[in-house]
Amino acid sequence: YTAELDASDIEKGTYPHFMLKEIDEQPFVIRNIIQKYQNEDGTVRLDEDIRQAMKSSDRIYIIAAGTSYHAGLVGKQLIEKIAQRPVEVHIASEFLYNMPLLSENPLFIFISQSGETADLRGVLVDVKEKGYKALTITNVPGSTLSRESDFTLHTYAGPEIAVASTKAYTAQMAVLTLLAVDTANAKGIELDFDPIQELAIVASAMETLCDQKEKLEQIARDYLATTRNCFFIGRAADYFVCLEGSLKLKEISYIQAEGFAGGELKHGTIALIEDGTPVIAIATQEHVNLSIRGNVKEVAARGAHPCIISMEGLEHAEDAFVIPKVHEYLTSLATVIPLQLISYYAALHRDCDVDKPRNLAKSVTVE
Ligand code: G6P
Repeated sequence: YTAELDASDIEKGTYPHFMLKEIDEQPFVIRNIIQKYQNEDGTVRLDEDIRQAMKSSDRIYIIAAGTSYHAGLVGKQLIEKIAQRPVEVHIASEFLYNMPLLSENPLFIFISQSGETADLRGVLVDVKEKGYKALTITNVPGSTLSRESDFTLHTYAGPEIAVASTKAYTAQMAVLTLLAVDTANAKGIELDFDPIQELAIVASAMETLCDQKEKLEQIARDYLATTRNCFFIGRAADYFVCLEGSLKLKEISYIQAEGFAGGELKHGTIALIEDGTPVIAIATQEHVNLSIRGNVKEVAARGAHPCIISMEGLEHAEDAFVIPKVHEYLTSLATVIPLQLISYYAALHRDCDVDKPRNLAKSVTVE
């Protein structure tokens, strides 16, 4: 293992659980990534061969599973918006069965915390046989996927011990941001924001969020202590973080939780809303702020117990929690922190084994 951390980093220290420690490490991880991928003059620069592979491909195919798949959904938006390259995101276990029509010059990006997930390896072996290039974004360089790919980008999150992924997810999104920025630079696309500065703002926002544990514990108690199910709703980028928030809650608290696109609710899911059903709504995107609040009214009218998490500048008086303002492309990196903490406290209140949830493995090496 080559992560530059000393042995004490893999101990829990004063933390009751690895998950809580790993949540708290996120500001440090983001700053570490900035340091690793920044030139002396403050610009972003990745390896020349990765830059060329990104620049010369006509379409990118992101392959991942679980939390890493959710980072991939955000990565697609980042690469399409910042680098103007078309991207598809696929669940690894389905890719070979439902193979899309590939472009002429595809580049495959495998996102995997462990670098060992068998479902991803199956796809990697197949696409390498077909002669395509592969880049692995992983927390473990030297892992199987990293060794068998043409290129590797290290997420520098340090060892992640808790089964439910937290810091690896935000690290993956930070690295995807830098990959998008480097590709934009290679293509001569002018950016209207400073990515390094914006990621530094995210790191500070994460610190502020990690300091609000009591408030988030209270939210977990009020909304999730005894519920059977819970819905997360969001639009635009907020929808992707809803998927991750619901996965976290399912994984460690065993509450049946689902993330939905706000506008899709009325096409079926709203039938599930009962008196008291918790609905966590995310509102960090200005262009959908009012429409997601409209969806909250729809569920509230049917008895739901809504909990709105919004972003500074977009907040309304009734919101349960407000996230410090970060760049609109990077909201998922901040928004996920309260969702991780709410899940953590919900699991604690329900006496669940936070670090080792039932039926789950940190790394799934069978297909
Ligand atoms: C397992 C873990 C998840 C993880 C997924 C993908 O299912 O329980 O937390 O997101 O594998 O793992 P990877 O190491 O490929 O990111």
